[in-house]
Amino acid sequence: MKDETGNGQRRDTPRESQQQEHPSTYVVQDRENQREMLRLMIQDRMITNGMGGVLPEQPDPTVFRRVLDVACGTGGWAIEAARTYPEMSVIGIDISQRMMEYARGQAADQQVSDRVEFQVMDALRILEFPTGFFDLVNLRFGVSFLRTWDWPKMISELLRVTRPGGIVRVTDEEIIHRSNSPALTEFWELFQLSFYRAGHLFADETTGLTDHLARLLTQHGCRNVQTKAHALALPAGTPEGQAYYDDVAHVVQTTRPFLQKWAGSTTGDYDGIRQRLQEEMLRPDFRATWNLLTVWGSRS
Ligand SMILES: C[S@@+](CC[C@H](N)C(=O)[O-])C[C@H]1O[C@@H](n2cnc3c(N)ncnc32)[C@H](O)[C@@H]1O
Repeated sequence: MKDETGNGQRRDTPRESQQQEHPSTYVVQDRENQREMLRLMIQDRMITNGMGGVLPEQPDPTVFRRVLDVACGTGGWAIEAARTYPEMSVIGIDISQRMMEYARGQAADQQVSDRVEFQVMDALRILEFPTGFFDLVNLRFGVSFLRTWDWPKMISELLRVTRPGGIVRVTDEEIIHRSNSPALTEFWELFQLSFYRAGHLFADETTGLTDHLARLLTQHGCRNVQTKAHALALPAGTPEGQAYYDDVAHVVQTTRPFLQKWAGSTTGDYDGIRQRLQEEMLRPDFRATWNLLTVWGSRS
């Protein structure tokens, strides 16, 4: 709804201006980017399998009946959670309309649409759920869209929608994946610098947010914070290695504008790096390790 002003111009009503979109803080500006969606499908499967399932560190995931997955991407984690735990209902939210449409189709194909719902929602605003609604709230790869100053409000919101005794669970990554490809390391260094300059990291450090998450969760109200580290081995000649190759082949394309904006001249011969890393990753002795950390705590 728009108001007419006295001089014939239109102005936003307060409600409408509240609803105007924030500019994207995600590493891929275009929320409907097809290649990014494809990449997230590949990455989701690789990460969930590599970590040993959707909730590998939780002693009894059957206690989680109502679950929220924030910034759920193509919905793979949410769908897999519902498939694994038949008593669980899951809501996935993401800012990308296209990903939510795709995720709904996947839930229908996997016959879990009665227990899995996807909603377009901006997680940087108020989460549109009642206080204490969920038993578990999950967030994986928040580094991709949250700036360091977004975390206090994000954690407060995650906790607000969690019931007393419920769990807030956050998984993030080390930025530079260790590998025997010099060009791949060069690429991840650009990534790290860009993340830092764009405000997504507290320091220009390889460990990304992993050294900060436990402190953040504790400082902002989580109780009994615990951590579990994962090291995903991704050698050439394995399905995981192939998935990693595909993920990287897409990410060098989809994040290029972000890296060029934030790393600027440091990106140097970007096409050269891209070509070399693909060659190096195709060598039969290529290997990489992707380090992740899950941090979780409860609401008092
Ligand atoms: C790196 S992906 C991770 C997807 C999923 N969590 C996973 O681990 O497979 C980050 C997701 O955050 C979403 N996103 C970016 N900004 C967002 C925002 N403000 N609110 C909600 N989702 C957002 C993107 O659309 C993208 O799907």
